[in-house]
Amino acid sequence: MRVQGILRFTVWVFAFILAVFFLHKALEIHMDFFKNVKVVKAALKEDSETSEVIKPSTYVCGRTKPCPERHFAFKMTSGAANAVGPKICLENTILMSEGKRNTGRGMNIALVDGHSGNLTRTAIFDIYSGDVKELTAFLKTITYGTIVMIASFDDAASKLNDEVKKMIGELGSTNITTIEFRDSWVFVGGKGIRSKSPFEKIKKKKIDGDMYDGWPELVEMDGCIPQRNL
Ligand SMILES: *[C@@H]1O[C@H](CO)[C@@H](O)[C@H](O)[C@H]1NC(C)=O
Ligand SMILES: *[C@@H]1O[C@H](CO)[C@@H](O)[C@H](O)[C@H]1NC(C)=O
Repeated sequence: MRVQGILRFTVWVFAFILAVFFLHKALEIHMDFFKNVKVVKAALKEDSETSEVIKPSTYVCGRTKPCPERHFAFKMTSGAANAVGPKICLENTILMSEGKRNTGRGMNIALVDGHSGNLTRTAIFDIYSGDVKELTAFLKTITYGTIVMIASFDDAASKLNDEVKKMIGELGSTNITTIEFRDSWVFVGGKGIRSKSPFEKIKKKKIDGDMYDGWPELVEMDGCIPQRNL
């Protein structure tokens, strides 16, 4: 009786392990149907690093270092190809992400009050097929002292014109003068900034190559934005 019980238990455990194994395999095969497997895998890794559970051993937004006082910690990534949206984290709050469903093709922009660190607005501008005038109008509404965080997704260059480039340049961007079709780009600037921003990264399709079958690798950046005095 007892031996039979142990035997039955062993069979159940074995069946369970088999079931888990096959489920795992099935999921793996399913993943392979994605066109950009590398992109999805990289993005998933990224997601598990910065989202939901922030481990006690890591700092704000999953950074590896703390920020000095009177600074806002941020971490952001551009979109990955046209497959996974960008992610913008500030002071442990995800401002924009695929999971929040507030990202899209083009420029993903979050506006933050430079003193309180509060999010004031997020917006998406389709630079590939949208009307760039909407972006021009939006940039004109940004008030002095606002932190401007921008992440590209898929393509953030096609329809840019000199007027928009000048306006984003005035927010502290350098890379806006050289960005081209499908480049990966992240930027943090500010309205009224007097110098070029140190927070900017770009990977160029033409130079860095087609890591993701038509797009360069995503770019990731983190840092500490000084708080603006009142
Ligand atoms: C920022 O957000 C906090 C918490 O929601 C709020 O108490 C504060 O008034 C906000 N500050 C500004 C300047 O909007
Ligand atoms: C992008 O901006 C960074 C920071 O200003 C700069 O170091 C880099 O050279 C720029 N790259 C390009 C291609 O414009």
